[in-house]
Amino acid sequence: MFVNFRRIRKCQCVQLMTTCLVLSVVMVCWEQLDNNVVNHVKSYSYRYLVNRFTYINKSLTISREQARSFSSFHYLLDHPEKCSNEDVLLLLFVKTSPDNIERRNAIRSTWGNETYIKNVLGVTVKVVFALGAIQTKKEEPLWSKRSGVGFQDQLIQEDRVYGDLVQQDFLDSFHNLTLKLILQFHWMHNRCAHARFFMTADDDIFIHMPNLVSYLQDVSSKGITDFWIGRVHRGAPPIRSKDSKYYVPFEMYQWFSYPDYTAGAGYVVSSDVADRIYHATLTLNASLYIDDVFMGICANAIGVSPQEHVYFSGEGKAPYHPCIYNQMMTSHGHVEDIYDLWKTATHPQVKQSTSGLMGRLYCTAVKMALLCKPSYTNTYPCKAAFL
Ligand SMILES: *[C@@H]1O[C@H](CO)[C@@H](O)[C@H](O)[C@H]1NC(C)=O
Ligand SMILES: *[C@@H]1O[C@H](CO)[C@@H](O)[C@H](O)[C@H]1NC(C)=O
Ligand SMILES: *[C@@H]1O[C@H](CO)[C@@H](O)[C@H](O)[C@H]1NC(C)=O
Ligand SMILES: *[C@@H]1O[C@H](CO)[C@@H](O)[C@H](O)[C@H]1NC(C)=O
Repeated sequence: MFVNFRRIRKCQCVQLMTTCLVLSVVMVCWEQLDNNVVNHVKSYSYRYLVNRFTYINKSLTISREQARSFSSFHYLLDHPEKCSNEDVLLLLFVKTSPDNIERRNAIRSTWGNETYIKNVLGVTVKVVFALGAIQTKKEEPLWSKRSGVGFQDQLIQEDRVYGDLVQQDFLDSFHNLTLKLILQFHWMHNRCAHARFFMTADDDIFIHMPNLVSYLQDVSSKGITDFWIGRVHRGAPPIRSKDSKYYVPFEMYQWFSYPDYTAGAGYVVSSDVADRIYHATLTLNASLYIDDVFMGICANAIGVSPQEHVYFSGEGKAPYHPCIYNQMMTSHGHVEDIYDLWKTATHPQVKQSTSGLMGRLYCTAVKMALLCKPSYTNTYPCKAAFL
C-alpha cells in the first residue's frame, strides 16, 4: 500500500513537472510567435498605410567623403579589360567567399560556362566572382591552408587559370556583404557599364541560363528600362532578436519595415538602374549589413521598385521536374546536385515533353500538384503553375 502510494505521488510529481516544462516551453515559444506576429502587423501597416520611406532616404544620406569609406578598398584581384569591346548582354556577379572553390568550379563548368553560353546561346554573358580578403590569423602557422599568405596565393593561382575573380581588401564576412554589393556596382560602373543587364547571385544557386538569356533578350528587345526583377519581399520587418543571423539593432535601422527588395539569392537589374544604384551608393550610409535590404534602400532612394517573377526563387528550392525546368530561372540551395541538375534541366527532351497542347495541359497539372500543396512548401508560388 505504502509503496504504491509513494509511487503514485512520484508519478504525479513527474507529471506536474512535465506539465510545467511543456507550459514554459509553450510560453517562451508563444512569446516569440507573438513578437513575430506583432512585428509583421506593424511592418505591414507601415508599408501599406504609413509608407514614409522618404524619411529613410533622408536620414541615411551622408556626405560623399563619409560614404567613401564604404567603397575605397583596393583591388587584390581585378580584370579591368573583362568586358572591353564586347556586346555584353549580362554581367553576372556571383558572391562567393575564398574557401568556396568547389562551388566556383561547379558554376564554371555548368550554368556559368561562358564558352557554352557564347557557342550554344549565342550571347555574351560575363560571369565574375566577387570576394573579400582572407583574414590573416596571427596564431596560425604559415604552412596552414587557411594562413592568409598561402591561401591568397591559391586564389591568385585559381585566377590565373580562369581569370574571373574580383577581390577587394575588406574582410570577407557575412557582415561585410554590403561592401561586396557596393564593390559589384562600382566595378560595373567602371569596367562594364555597357552591359545591358546586371545580376548578382549567391554561389549556391542554380541558374537556368538558357531560360534567363531568352527572357532577358526579350526584355532587351522591348527596350525596357527601370527594370528590377527577382523574388520580392514587401513589408518585411527588421529582425530584432539577437539570436538571428539577420539581427539588426534599432540604431542601425529604426523603422518598422524595410523598403521593398528582392531576395539576395539572385536578382537582375537593367543597366540604367545599375548606374543609378551606383550613384546612390555614393551618398548613402552603408553600415546596414544585410546586402539585399541595402539594395532596397538604394533603389528606394532613386525611385525604382522591384517586380516579382514567380520563377526566381528566394530561399526556396525548385522541385525536380521537366515541367519546372521548362520555365525556371533560379533555384536556391544547390551544391552537390548542380552538375546533374544542369544536365537534366537543359536536356532537349525537356522542351519536347512540355510542348504542344497535351504537354502544356500535363505540365499545368503537374505544377499544380507540385506548387499548390496546402502545406507550406518553400518553392515557387502556386500561381506559377498557371503560367
Ligand atoms: C565549357 O563549355 C565548353 C564547350 O561548350 C567546354 O569545351 C568546356 O570544357 C566547358 N568548360 C568547363 C570548365 O567545363
Ligand atoms: C569588414 O571589413 C573591414 C575592412 O577589412 C574590417 O575592418 C571589418 O572588421 C569587417 N567587418 C566585419 C563585420 O567582418
Ligand atoms: C551610419 O550608421 C551607423 C549606424 O548604423 C552610425 O553609427 C554611423 O554614425 C552612421 N554614419 C554616418 C557617417 O552618419
Ligand atoms: C533621397 O535623398 C537625396 C538627398 O537628400 C535626394 O537627392 C533624393 O532625391 C532623395 N530621393 C527620393 C526618392 O526621395
